[in-house]
Amino acid sequence: MDAHITEKIMQEMGNCDTTIIEVEGVPMLQSISDVWDTIYNFQARDGDIVVASYPKSGTTWTQEILDMILQDGSIEKSMRAPCFVRVPFLEMAYTSLEVANSMPSPRLLKTHLPVHLMPPSFWEKNVKIVYVARNPKDCMVSYYYFHKMDNTMPDPGTWENFFSMFLSGNVSWGSWFDHVIGWWKSQDKHQILYVFYEDMIEDPQREIQRVMTFLGKDLSEEALQKIQHHTSFSSMKVNPMVNYGVLPTSLFDTSISTFMRKGTVGDWKNHFLVSQNILFDEEYKKKMDGSGLSFRTEL
Ligand code: A3P
Repeated sequence: MDAHITEKIMQEMGNCDTTIIEVEGVPMLQSISDVWDTIYNFQARDGDIVVASYPKSGTTWTQEILDMILQDGSIEKSMRAPCFVRVPFLEMAYTSLEVANSMPSPRLLKTHLPVHLMPPSFWEKNVKIVYVARNPKDCMVSYYYFHKMDNTMPDPGTWENFFSMFLSGNVSWGSWFDHVIGWWKSQDKHQILYVFYEDMIEDPQREIQRVMTFLGKDLSEEALQKIQHHTSFSSMKVNPMVNYGVLPTSLFDTSISTFMRKGTVGDWKNHFLVSQNILFDEEYKKKMDGSGLSFRTEL
């Protein structure tokens, strides 16, 4: 069953149209815009749990932590299928949505949608959402390598080119700034736990505990230790159920970059030119001022 679904998802990915087109003013892959009505009309259920994020913010890491918490820390259960089968990706219609619709509750779902494009049924059902955010400099670098290795994404061109595209929000799922601020401001209206990638790196145990409390679970110290170990970068890097190693190189070309690439805070320093850093900091200040939200670019 899972092998069949994996195969179907891979086929869909292989047919992905990498043209970027706007959905309600937000740049998206053509393949998402083509099925937008289906995505937007998705029916959430009571008890659904969502991991939301801007791409490359630690989504896979967070969803693995959540899945393990929901499976009471069982490593065996967390290995039952590749992460993209266990946690359907909302924007990846139709197979992912078929999987979601046939899953027993409580379902764990993944999305990169900006908050204002979330299907309304999630708000109607008052669904719990864990939003993970990462500092934009590391996010940009990670997204650049992802564009290079993921053949379902458009060619990023040179680093210089991608830097300008990211800064102007002209990339898939739109502006990082709008995304993180939009979700931040929605916390007082919905059940959202806002988590920072940098906090997870700094103290994974503390952040796993926060997520567990938010989900209303109370696992033993032993289970927590297991989750922390199993979701560490070194464990996830070699775990085929989360490192996307099951995908063929025609989809994810791991000779260019691996999905579990570095998993650190501060890799941007190896990529940003001094002039780019100045430009970025100016833009960051303009966009983030007054948002009440701040990011750490080093620990
Ligand atoms: P890098 O490219 O900087 O290494 P997403 O899942 O949202 O696509 O995010 C992918 C990024 O999260 C990649 O960043 C990946 O290495 C990092 N990541 C995945 N699992 C991680 C973990 N357990 N610990 C730290 N970083 C992790």
